[in-house]
Formats: sequence, structure tokens, C-alpha cells
Amino acid sequence: MGDAQTARATLVFPAVNEAAEAYVTAARARGEETICAASVTDGEIAGVRDDLHRLPPIYDEQFSETFLALAAAQSVGRLFCPVASVHDFMARFIDSQNLAIELIGQSPIRQQVEQHRRLMARARRLLPLVEHCAGPVPCLSLLEVAGILRQASQIYGESNDDKLAAMMGIMASAPPGDVIEIGALMGRSAFVLLYLAWRYRVGPVLTIDPWRADNAVQRRSPQALQTLVDEWDFEVMREGFFVNMVPLRADDHSHLRLPSEEAFAVYAQDSARTYSASSKVAYSGQIAAIHIDGNHDHDLVGKDCRLWLGRMLPGSWLILDDYIWAHGDGPYRVGNDLLREQGKRIARAFVCGKALFVQWQHEPR
Ligand SMILES: C[S@@+](CC[C@H](N)C(=O)[O-])C[C@H]1O[C@@H](n2cnc3c(N)ncnc32)[C@H](O)[C@@H]1O
Repeated sequence: MGDAQTARATLVFPAVNEAAEAYVTAARARGEETICAASVTDGEIAGVRDDLHRLPPIYDEQFSETFLALAAAQSVGRLFCPVASVHDFMARFIDSQNLAIELIGQSPIRQQVEQHRRLMARARRLLPLVEHCAGPVPCLSLLEVAGILRQASQIYGESNDDKLAAMMGIMASAPPGDVIEIGALMGRSAFVLLYLAWRYRVGPVLTIDPWRADNAVQRRSPQALQTLVDEWDFEVMREGFFVNMVPLRADDHSHLRLPSEEAFAVYAQDSARTYSASSKVAYSGQIAAIHIDGNHDHDLVGKDCRLWLGRMLPGSWLILDDYIWAHGDGPYRVGNDLLREQGKRIARAFVCGKALFVQWQHEPR
């Protein structure tokens, strides 16, 4: 077998799960030579590769000889093992055979332990913020904060931990009413709002997003941001959103695939307040919390506020996303106008995670 100087390739064994798939994809993207091997081949994972080598099971008496032959023939210098029992076996095998092969990374079990500890550290950091935003009202436990963060992190989105933590706090004091989100993307913040609306017994959630390129483009932002829209497949965005909502209750959520302005017309006139063929969602027409996170161009954020704020209840919360924003000042200008013109109607206002949070003492005008 080649020594560590000449052995260049990374062997992924057993290449049978998503961790293997992810490693191979990332390694090949950075130009690392990878070879895949498995004993028990999983149809789907093996099927995407044309280069899968067969190795006997690790307990088979042929394993040692076959593995050493493969490692020598392919110049294997590193080994990635995404299965705990194999990782443990191979650590001892490499040691006992005194092989010049580096076993990459921690075992999957160790990784899981570390990942959980990191998550809990994140939740412990955020819990005081959640409690501060909730004020005197009882709010979430540490485990709930961790659980929400974990699920939200699985969903592609643009809401950061601090903003989500503030949402987890403020929703504790929202009055009963409808929860609205303008701009859903793939559902990171929608997932959190839907959970919180159920957890604090606030009311049904209505999400709004046209999932269309011509709505999504930020015409008042630099060209580089405008062209980012071209990377999206908006049917993937739509489908991904609904996939991401599956773990949550479906009977208190519906979605309008419309721009905010058209969605408001439906919301304002539909006396039955049901928008979904599959589920009957009873909206009150009065808003307990609204997350304005659609198009951030100044005129569109202003229009969102003019239309929707008239439906907000005393004690309700406005979350104006990207009040602090690198790509434009639409939300900042609209937020400042609100603070200036309606200051006397506001009970609390603060900025967290770049969003402006406003609690209305009296209905906004
Ligand atoms: C910043 S993303 C939303 C991020 C999401 N709230 C999250 O936390 O992951 C903005 C979204 O607004 C949507 N959008 C753009 N124009 C809109 C409009 N006029 N009405 C509603 N949504 C709009 C876009 O399609 C895009 O999905």
C-alpha cells in the first residue's frame, strides 16, 4: 500500500447513508478524490454512484485482506466512516494493522453528542432573551427553545436565532387573534410562528407568498441582489414550504399564493375567512401578530403596513423584518415613520436580530 505521502484518495465506507452522500458531494466539489465502498448496498445511495466497491462485512474473515487490497489499489490515505459501529471497528483495525490511513472526524455517536451540546448551548444563550421579550408573562422552557431552534434550523430561511428568540418571547403576550406572515420563503419563520400560535393559544396562521420571481426581486437594491432571484426554482420554494410545514398541525394554517396587496383584499372581504380547500381555517379578521417580511422595497413595505396594520388589535405585535439591512433602507424608513407618527399608540418597541418589534397599546392608524 502507498505511504501517507503518495496516498491521496479518501475512502468513504460504508457509503450507505446521507452522511456519506453529503461527504462525497462536498469532497468532490473541493477537488478531493473519493472512493466509495459498501458491504450492504442501499439501493438508492449506491444507485447514484457508478464507482461503488464491494467489501465483505467487517466481521467476515475476508474483510482484512479485501480492504487492504482495495486501499493499496486506490491509494487510500483517508477514511470517512459514517456508521458508528464501522467507525469504531475501523479505528481499532487501522491501529492494529499500523496503517498509514487517517480516520477522518469523530464517530457518528460522538458527533451526535457534540451536536446536541452545541444546540443546548445555543438555547441557553437565547433563553434569557426569550424571557426578556416575554416580560412578566410565562413563556417557553429551555427544552422548547432548543426544540424550536433545531427544527427551524433544518429549514432554509432568512431569520436568525436572535429574531426567532424574540418571536418566541413576544408571542407569549399577543392577544387572541390571527397571526399573519407576509413573505414565507421556505417556511423558517412560518414554522416558528405556527408553533408559537398553537403553544400560546393565539389563533390561526395565514402565510402569504406569491413565490414568483417578479414579486421577489428587490428593485431598489444593488443589482447583485436582484439577480440572486434567478437562482431560485419557485416551484421548489412552494413545494419545500409545504414539506416543511408537514410536522405541524394543518387545521390552523392556510396559505395565500398571492402578493400581499391581493392577499389583503381576500382577507378583508372573505367573511367565511377560509382559504384552503382541504382545511377550514376560521380567521377572525383581527390581527394578533404580523411578520412583514415580503418585498423590502420602500414603497412595498409601506404598502404592507398601510394595508395590514389597520386590522391590528390592542396589545398585538408588528415584526418588521430587516429594519437594519445591508441591501436597502425600505424597512428602516417605514419603521421610523411608524415610530415617529404613531409613537403615542405604541406600548413597546425594540430592535432584535435586525428586525423592529412593536407592540401596540392602541390599534395603529
Ligand atoms: C426574505 S424572504 C422571507 C423569509 C422568511 N420569512 C424566513 O424567515 O425564512 C422574502 C419572501 O417574500 C416574498 N415576497 C416578495 N414579494 C412579496 C409580496 N408582494 N407579498 C408577499 N410576499 C412577497 C418572496 O417570494 C420571498 O419568499
